[in-house]
This record gives sequence, C-alpha cells and structure tokens, in this order.
Amino acid sequence: MSDSMTIGLIYGSVRQGRFCDTVVNWVLSELWAESGVRVTLIDPRVLRDQPETVDLVKRQIDEADAFIVVTPEYNHGYPGALKDLIDSCYEPWHAKPVGFVSYGGLSGGLRAVEQLRLVFAELHAVTMRDSVAFANAWSQFDAAGNPFKPDTARTSLFLMLRRLKWWANTLKNARDIRPYEQAA
Ligand SMILES: Cc1cc2nc3c(=O)[nH]c(=O)nc-3n(C[C@H](O)[C@H](O)[C@H](O)COP(=O)(O)O)c2cc1C
Repeated sequence: MSDSMTIGLIYGSVRQGRFCDTVVNWVLSELWAESGVRVTLIDPRVLRDQPETVDLVKRQIDEADAFIVVTPEYNHGYPGALKDLIDSCYEPWHAKPVGFVSYGGLSGGLRAVEQLRLVFAELHAVTMRDSVAFANAWSQFDAAGNPFKPDTARTSLFLMLRRLKWWANTLKNARDIRPYEQAA
C-alpha cells in the first residue's frame, strides 16, 4: 500500500486579473513540502481557450487521486467556467475525494462551496467537511501573496489535507481491489 498520490489543484476562476492565482499559489507553496504528494494544476482557462484540450483535462482528472478546488463566489454561486470543467467528464471523478479552498467577500465563498457539494455528489465524489475560507480575501494577503495570518490559514488547510489524504489513500486502495464501476 503506497501513500503517494496526485492531487489535482483546480482553479475556479478564469477572470482576467483573477485573485485565484494568489490563492492557488499559496496552496501550492504549502503543498510543496508534503512528501509523497504530486500536484497537477488544472485550469479551466485552458479548456475555455482551447476546447480541443478536453482530452488532456480528462486525463488530468483521471490520473488524480484527489482534488482541491480553489473557488471564488460569484453572485452566491461558483463560476460557470468551473462548471464547464467539472462537466467535461464523468467517470474520472468517481470515488475520489474533493476538498475546497474558497474566497470572496463576507462569506468567504462558502455559498459557492455548498453548491459544489451538490454537484460533486452527482459525480460520485466525496467532499471534505473541512475547508479553508478567506473572507474579504483581498485584505488577507500581502502584495507578495503571503497570508497576513499564515498560522490560521495553514491550520485550516492542513486539517482539510489530512482528511483528504486519508480518503485519497483509502479510496485508491479500494478502487484497486474492486473497480467502482462494479458497485452499480
Ligand atoms: C460577477 C461577480 C460576482 C460576485 N459575487 C460575489 C458574491 O456573491 N459573494 C462574494 O462574497 N463575493 C462576490 N464577488 C467578489 C469575488 O468573490 C471576488 O472579487 C473574487 O476575488 C473573485 O475571484 P477572482 O478574482 O479569482 O475571479 C463577486 C465578484 C464578481 C466579479
């Protein structure tokens, strides 16, 4: 039984000048030292700008053992481009865990996350109860992209990550023993 895994780190925003880059870069910097964790960046901009890359995106999702979705909140929901990316395939999401890092105004993107839970349930994915939320996100990071309260942010991220890794390993082994498709 191996503890190594690939985490698909998914951008939620495709907006020009998106704050998403700051939050994704922070998550990446925190994952850097995690032993046995490979990270694949999955960006809905690629799919939007080059729809012919859909097979590449599918393969990235297929090869990942777990996902972290970094999502903003737009009008109490999640961005449409993120939904397009999620809808680009079906089976590759099955029996895999999904964690969230959200950001936005007062609610820190939590309403977007709650909606995404419903979407991922339809895809046979398991969402993590624990998440990271940055309320008024633009006031939480300095100009270099570092959180003003790194310990608080890190504590939330690593609680979510420990549980994500538990599910990732458990489900990876379970899928190896018995393909999820047999559970119909
Ligand atoms: C069209 C639009 C709608 C928004 N609606 C909300 C909202 O409902 N709740 C909230 O907390 N923030 C809202 N915001 C603020 C965004 O969450 C914030 O600007 C965030 O940085 C957007 O992410 P991005 O810069 O990565 O695209 C909205 C922003 C935009 C552009």
